[in-house]
Amino acid sequence: MSERLAIRGGTPVRSRPFPAWPISDSTDEQALLRVLHSGRWGRLNGEEVGRFERAFAAYQEARHGIAVTNGTASLRLAVLAAGLRAGDEVIVPPYTFIATASAVIEANGTPIFVDIEPETYNLDPDLIEAAITPRTRAIVPVHFAGLAADMDRILAIARRHGLAVIEDCAHAHGSTYKGRKVGALGDLGSFSFQSSKNLTSGEGGIILTNDDRLAADCFSLHHVGRPAGGAWYEHHNPGGNYRMTEFQAALLGSQLVRLEAQTVTRDANGPRLDHGLAAVPGLRPLARGCHGETRHAYHLYIVRYDPDAFGGAPLAAFCAAMNAEGVPCGPGYSIPLYRQELFTRMNFGAFNGYCNARPDLDYRTVSCPACEQACREACWIAQSVLLGSAADMDDIVAAAAKVQRLHGGLSGLATASA
Ligand SMILES: Cc1ncc(COP(=O)(O)O)c(C=O)c1O
Repeated sequence: MSERLAIRGGTPVRSRPFPAWPISDSTDEQALLRVLHSGRWGRLNGEEVGRFERAFAAYQEARHGIAVTNGTASLRLAVLAAGLRAGDEVIVPPYTFIATASAVIEANGTPIFVDIEPETYNLDPDLIEAAITPRTRAIVPVHFAGLAADMDRILAIARRHGLAVIEDCAHAHGSTYKGRKVGALGDLGSFSFQSSKNLTSGEGGIILTNDDRLAADCFSLHHVGRPAGGAWYEHHNPGGNYRMTEFQAALLGSQLVRLEAQTVTRDANGPRLDHGLAAVPGLRPLARGCHGETRHAYHLYIVRYDPDAFGGAPLAAFCAAMNAEGVPCGPGYSIPLYRQELFTRMNFGAFNGYCNARPDLDYRTVSCPACEQACREACWIAQSVLLGSAADMDDIVAAAAKVQRLHGGLSGLATASA
């Protein structure tokens, strides 16, 4: 019998599941019970949050860590600590989760979108300087998918113009740039511990920095404006309550024990996928290692899809066929951030700092071709899949090769899967 795509009723390449996420065992249970039975559920009288802050900062090679409720709050507080004033501009990439840009708005600033590099999907240093104005205060490179941005060049530009650099490391736990962990390469780094992340407690975030003053400011901002060591009703800054719970910190502490080994596994599986998928016509892995990114956390594995090699079938049809073959994957962001209504309609509500800064600003005129291409071509595979074995990676390659070989079977799937 002739070979058929699984989506057309054929036998799938694979029927075994890939590793599930999150992963937990009795050590996580004990950590949570330890907090439960202690009766100390918040950092005000507990020790778990402080212990995790120190452990994670040490793991990421940073001097200070301030744990917070989530990675959106950590970005916002980092931007505020960097000294943003109403209407100040912050350079961000448009191919990222909304929080990278919305945190700037929530800090009463103005996100300015600068395109990504087509080969890495990270902020393109060649384009940054043209976007700098007298109102620019900071650059927020995202280490997208876990691949470090071109930090030497970004830091050099920032130094030349007196700008702060805030690394968005939501995807980059354990990633390295020229052998150094990300997070404190710039002035501040922001991490997320939301459910999908490579280190998770369901929700959570942390700010890292090597700067004592910035650390003190972040601590104050996350603690209702109290100075460290100050009295309970002593408030110096316009902060809020962004404190992490002891339960989150205890769980993160037990999860952190696994992070290094998991990162090593993902970092080995990524190049194996690169090698296999690059041989499939119409699939092109992203580049890695071209700017000194040494270790890739692979929060996402991304391969670029060219419909021309698949009879014109859209990306969604390819992903649906891969899913049927037993490979979990999907298209990523379908539009650049600047096409979200938040920006096209400037629905910034009370956060209207932009009015003072750039009355001329109209996000509908923004065009970032590399980002727009990424929105059309990127196929994402989640980090937990890369915790599988080498044979599991080979199944992914086999499924992609099969879908390509039998791409005639993709026609007509566009509307069903879109
Ligand atoms: C690049 C990026 N930045 C920031 C965040 C925000 O993190 P959180 O969901 O913890 O608020 C995310 C989360 O998905 C993200 O992917």
